[in-house]
Amino acid sequence: MAFVGKGGSGKTTLSALFARHTAARQGGPVVAIDADINQHLGMVLGLEEGELPPPLGSHLTEIKEFLRGANPRIGSAAAMVKTTPPGRGSRLLALDPADDPIQSRFSATTPEGLRLMVTGPFSEDDLGVACYHSKVGAVELYLNHLVDGHGEYVVVDMTAGADSFASGLFTRFDMTFLVAEPTRQGVGVYRQYREYAADYDVPLAVVGNKIHGPDDVAFLREHVGDDLLVCLEHSAAVRAMEQGRPFTLDDLEPANAEALAVLLKHLDGREKDWDRFGRQAVEFHLRNARAWANRATGEDLAAQVDPDFVFGPTRVSPHR
Ligand SMILES: Nc1ncnc2c1ncn2[C@@H]1O[C@H](COP(=O)(O)OP(=O)(O)O)[C@@H](O)[C@H]1O
Ligand SMILES: [Mg+2]
Repeated sequence: MAFVGKGGSGKTTLSALFARHTAARQGGPVVAIDADINQHLGMVLGLEEGELPPPLGSHLTEIKEFLRGANPRIGSAAAMVKTTPPGRGSRLLALDPADDPIQSRFSATTPEGLRLMVTGPFSEDDLGVACYHSKVGAVELYLNHLVDGHGEYVVVDMTAGADSFASGLFTRFDMTFLVAEPTRQGVGVYRQYREYAADYDVPLAVVGNKIHGPDDVAFLREHVGDDLLVCLEHSAAVRAMEQGRPFTLDDLEPANAEALAVLLKHLDGREKDWDRFGRQAVEFHLRNARAWANRATGEDLAAQVDPDFVFGPTRVSPHR
């Protein structure tokens, strides 16, 4: 699942709170990924600068080399772009770090036992379609090769700009929570995102944030309608945490804690649609190939699509 929204809306805060809430409630593996332009998630999850994991975006070649495995359709890491889908022979990933060399090498464990991976810093320019070295592309590759199951969670903290639609990343989630402040800008980002989401059957729900009272809720309800799932109040506990005071989930206001539970329930209510997941992986790859990747690699990347590969739990490869 992903939290998206405009800068400052609260994506990173909610990603961290939700990841902690989910780990505490479910006990299963929770991986948090920082793919936001401003890389803050590690800090909010309680990691010091020196404790951050090696950034995925600086190790693209190594990651591609690992993922392509013995897939005969991908001749080299250089021919692998961010949308290159897995095929027979590719190495698939599980959420258990013992079973996933990518996660064990590129994650750090937070004080509460969550796993954090980070893209590393990037800029607006890195989000466009014609970027061969896209750092966020590392996340797309990771998710495309991941076979997740019930009770396993990946929480991605993600920048939502118009150009995030150039890649297939926004279609990789079973649920996308759009974080919106009760302002015209907040609902503007929602409108733009909803249009794309609807074209691709991307499940989307709006989370109101920094709510100060009933007028704020009414504003969001008016502009967002039924897509408004739940609201979080402006939180004194979050503010105190930002001021460096010790924070546990128990410090959160009951209404905000309840809102996190609503998010988790909403997410758990979705069955993963592996058909859509696989279909769109291929669709975006073909589009990417035509738009720039064939030219960039000097190959016909449509040939990387393995028509007999089935996305989903039947295909976990033993690679230990
Ligand atoms: N519900 C909330 N109550 C109080 N402060 C909040 C809340 N949500 C976010 N903030 C604060 O707003 C600022 C921006 O939040 P952040 O999560 O960094 O946004 P984003 O990741 O979308 O850019 C931070 O200082 C954060 O502590
Ligand atoms: Mg952020």
